Amino acid sequence: MCGIIGYVGYRRSQDVLFDGLRRLEYRGYDSAGLAWRENGRTECVRAIGNLDSLACALDAHSGTDDTSESAAVATATVSAGIAHTRWATHGGVTERNAHPHTDCSGRIRIVLNGIIENYLEVRESLAAGMIHCTSETDAEVVAQLISYYYDGDISAAVRSAVAVLSGHFAFVAMCDDDPHTLVGVRQECPLVVGMGDHELFVASSISAFVEHTRRVVVLHDGEMVVMRPSGLTVFDANALPRVPQETVVDWDEDRCEKDGFETFMLKEIHEQPSAIAETLRQARAPLAPRENHRLGLAQLCNVRRMIIVACGTSYHAALAGRMAIERWARVPVEVDVASEFRYREPIIEPGTLVLGVTQSGETADTLAAMRLARAQGATVVALTNAPGSQATRDADAVLFTRAGLEIGVAATKTFVAQVVLLCALALDLARARDALPADRLAELQRELDLLPDRVAHVTQSADSPMRQLAEQLVWSPFFLYLGRLSGLPVALEGALKLKEISYVPTDAYAAGEMKHGPIALLGRETPVVCVATEQAVLPKLLSNLSEVRARGARVLAIASEGCKQIGEHAEHVVYVPATDSLLQVVLAIIPLQLFAYHLARARGLNVDQPRNLAKTVTVE
Ligand code: AGP
Repeated sequence: MCGIIGYVGYRRSQDVLFDGLRRLEYRGYDSAGLAWRENGRTECVRAIGNLDSLACALDAHSGTDDTSESAAVATATVSAGIAHTRWATHGGVTERNAHPHTDCSGRIRIVLNGIIENYLEVRESLAAGMIHCTSETDAEVVAQLISYYYDGDISAAVRSAVAVLSGHFAFVAMCDDDPHTLVGVRQECPLVVGMGDHELFVASSISAFVEHTRRVVVLHDGEMVVMRPSGLTVFDANALPRVPQETVVDWDEDRCEKDGFETFMLKEIHEQPSAIAETLRQARAPLAPRENHRLGLAQLCNVRRMIIVACGTSYHAALAGRMAIERWARVPVEVDVASEFRYREPIIEPGTLVLGVTQSGETADTLAAMRLARAQGATVVALTNAPGSQATRDADAVLFTRAGLEIGVAATKTFVAQVVLLCALALDLARARDALPADRLAELQRELDLLPDRVAHVTQSADSPMRQLAEQLVWSPFFLYLGRLSGLPVALEGALKLKEISYVPTDAYAAGEMKHGPIALLGRETPVVCVATEQAVLPKLLSNLSEVRARGARVLAIASEGCKQIGEHAEHVVYVPATDSLLQVVLAIIPLQLFAYHLARARGLNVDQPRNLAKTVTVE
């Protein structure tokens, strides 16, 4: 959920760590801290609130030291440290609960992401041995446990402690006795190592150190890394050293900046054409056998039923994908919220393919649903944006979206990339199973390939009208979103965007369901956003809109160019280019992303870091 970073090298570690925390800020946090070696002792500064508070605390701290001398000494020697942005899980938001955490002796410090499930049990055992924790956090329990096992070898102590712990977590530890050694552990939470020249980084996300190096070593579950100025050793889950496999990520530095946009979210909305183009390129590119984790032709032909599991925005992409796969390839598809699927005792028959859709590849519920399916004999495929993520390791095959790093908490470009890749998969399935005539397949492929240009066009043309509308409706207390067939996932996703970044109560429904309850919510002036891009049910939808207008509500519609009737039923219409209705999902969502964006900005909100939300939900 939060961000961790560690550094050992020749730079001033507190600067590297603080910059790294800035890059991890988007994940959401309510306190932050860092610990570093300086002048032969470990310094530790923590603060409640944002990184500006931490910067003030660091300034105050350096005011108590001879900073110029510290800096001179630090740059001339090896420097090491760890840092953390914390989102409170155990215990409240207090300075004592903020990271880094230390043992009673103050010798061992750690920063931890994720959750230690048996921390109360461990805490009691420690208390029985007269080791008392002073905070309410699971992280302190880990520091105390490492200290309990410590006998002069920090990596051995960490290994012994990990054997006692259960949960999903990643942490980095440092010890005063061996101050330039960092030990990192990954257990179902992300942790990657960055390889610089005579310096090493370790973090929960590559973005924390991408400005310094793009050479990375991804740790797998159960692995431990020991980092020293002289190099690193990676131990596998059996505690045996393994050769670290280095890869070079192709995300350039600029991708981690805002490129001149006022927010990451806006930048990412504008990156959607390239996210789609890259994803389509990747879907077609011939891959080296070593990298080819795609479904083979035989697997595509043998699929009898599909279950797609996902959460949040990825779930909405899955709903759109279902329609494409069923309509074009005639394969029955079920879509389930991963957190429900994992507990509903699903029936998985031979020939069932389970697809986990997760941009981060680290969402706990989706991973658990995929594992359950695999244990029951399903072929499991991950559709993700994150190479090296847990989902890619848990799956039999992987389909990659290529949206690039998404920093805004609200998913935008990863959503369109997921929908496009699911449509490409539907066409592959249709082709393999002879489910569509060749000319129809070719036509759909052409339309798919036109999407990047069309998305760029809609992004430009819809921005200003959506801003104006958002400014008009900025203080509306409630919105209702409606759609039918392929318009429904768009309505659901548009409503989710509005909720998560503007905090305005919003509901979304299949338009035909409105008369069964939600119509009671409509009053004079209630804004109703309607996705009217599905021609097959347009007359039905228009009749739903008549019911809306009869209550005095205001209709804002997204419709296909050339749709004449909609004008009579809506106060405002935003037109998107006409294409196959399933592909239109990708076009119709853009005005709604922009609407949510401008409304939240007009309310003066921080769209990149909405309250209560984190980018990756690695806990249940
Ligand atoms: C969407 O804006 C949110 N960030 C959230 O709903 C997200 O889609 C969900 O948590 C699933 O994440 P994943 O795709 O990384 O699995």
